[in-house]
Amino acid sequence: EWTPASFVNETVDALKKQIGNRKVIMALSGGVDSTVAATLIHRAIGKNLFGIFVDNGVLRKDEFQQVLDTYATIGLNVKGVDAREHFYTKLAGKSNPEEKRKIIGGTFIEVFDREAHTIEGVELLGQGTIYPDVIESVSVHGPSVTIKSHHNVGGLPDTMKLELVEPLRYLFKDEVRRVGAELGIPADLLNRHPFPGPGLAIRILGEITEEKVDLLQRADAIFINGLKEHNLYDKVWQAGAILLPVQSVGVMGDERTYEFTLALRAVTSVDGMTADWAHLPYEFLAHISNEIINKVRGINRVVYDISSKPPATIEWE
Ligand code: XMP
Repeated sequence: EWTPASFVNETVDALKKQIGNRKVIMALSGGVDSTVAATLIHRAIGKNLFGIFVDNGVLRKDEFQQVLDTYATIGLNVKGVDAREHFYTKLAGKSNPEEKRKIIGGTFIEVFDREAHTIEGVELLGQGTIYPDVIESVSVHGPSVTIKSHHNVGGLPDTMKLELVEPLRYLFKDEVRRVGAELGIPADLLNRHPFPGPGLAIRILGEITEEKVDLLQRADAIFINGLKEHNLYDKVWQAGAILLPVQSVGVMGDERTYEFTLALRAVTSVDGMTADWAHLPYEFLAHISNEIINKVRGINRVVYDISSKPPATIEWE
């Protein structure tokens, strides 16, 4: 009979056999899958697991530090790499969504590969691949921190040629959460909403600038913290804010303003393939709208997205 405890025991044994005394490198995202996978590998090999968590400049507000703190609590050996400037430089002037995705993916591999070379004698690559990723390997998005392995292809970064360690390969998401709980991973991490690999870059429609990232981070934090405070966070499948490339006229005191519009998006869903807009209480939406407009100078209008998927997608890009 499958239980989280028996899975942990058997997997840790199997990992010890596979890895021996070799070193494993792994990219972490702060998400459920990579954290649970890393924790299992850490149980098996301890300090021979080298985690890398990259700040790509499009994480949520304070996320980099918060995630690193959580890893420290769990006892994982993770190096935080601040690569914000590198990503911003590459993203400058780019507004096409697919191009932005490619730049973020490519720059991430560059940064990760460089970090991998600072650790001597790494032979394996840990990944948080779960069963739906395996069966949907043709999916357009893919998991946020899976580096696709293309063996024996020339010209690829060295990290892609490493032997893979994928302890969650046969698990579904709910099983991953149960294993995570068994491992003592904090519930707020296990219950986090999905967050796309390209992060806020695909929630800033059009060109990305540091100023826009700052505006969106602050507005998004007000929305997400508000959902938590009002016990609504766990009732929606995913939520976030989108900064639109639209400015409109407003009034503040006796000044006219001409500032950005922010869209709020919250959906209910089972697997993200279809989704309905979440029927959040009007009072809550009114409160969040006021908070954002009063506190985030540069946004003077807030709208709520009432589109379902299909035909609308969850993300706007
Ligand atoms: P859509 O917008 O297609 O999103 O309805 C469905 C789910 O996928 C996430 N998503 C991504 N995840 N890289 C990712 O890792 C991506 O490029 C990407 N695009 C969308 C989205 O957040 C939602 O959970």
